[in-house]
Amino acid sequence: MESWWPCGSDWARLCTILTTPPCHKSVKIAQSAASVVWNAEKSRFATEDGLAYLDYVMLNPAVGAGQSAAEPAKEVMDLVHTYVPVSKRGLGLAGELCKAAFAHARKHKLLVQPTCSYISDTFIPRHPEWWDVVVPECLPSDHEKPVGHM
Ligand code: COA
Repeated sequence: MESWWPCGSDWARLCTILTTPPCHKSVKIAQSAASVVWNAEKSRFATEDGLAYLDYVMLNPAVGAGQSAAEPAKEVMDLVHTYVPVSKRGLGLAGELCKAAFAHARKHKLLVQPTCSYISDTFIPRHPEWWDVVVPECLPSDHEKPVGHM
């Protein structure tokens, strides 16, 4: 009598099916929607369709941040406002805008000031990997600062 129990390559195929995430398509849509463009003229990071954006204002060098001769003062990018259309909220789009802005700050040796409440209250506490570019006074007080960061 033939056994119903899978064996050999059938097992491998079954394991692949069982461990493959079911939401391939929606993940891909969320990722492609998060392609972020920097608009220097508008002081804005935005999705390609321009509907979701993060606005910033450049400030004078931060007091107390790298003010020695060895480490020159850094300019501060004040992240003032983040906006995502209602229909696209909760997909992590604001987080993608933040990552682009923080990566830009790191690349250009700027500091980030999180005036926008989404960034100060949600993004920064959840992403310690970006704390090295945050104005030290704006880091969460109840979180330990990561070793090797300012
Ligand atoms: N302050 C802090 N956290 C906020 C927030 C705010 N004003 N608005 C939403 N969040 C939190 C949500 O509670 C959610 O938390 P959860 O993951 O525990 O559910 C998380 O942000 C969602 O993150 P994400 O998916 O990356 O955000 P989003 O793409 O939905 O966009 C906003 C978030 C704030 C940009 C969007 O709701 C928006 O445009 N709101 C109107 C403008 C606004 O209030 N901007 C913030 C002040 S500048």
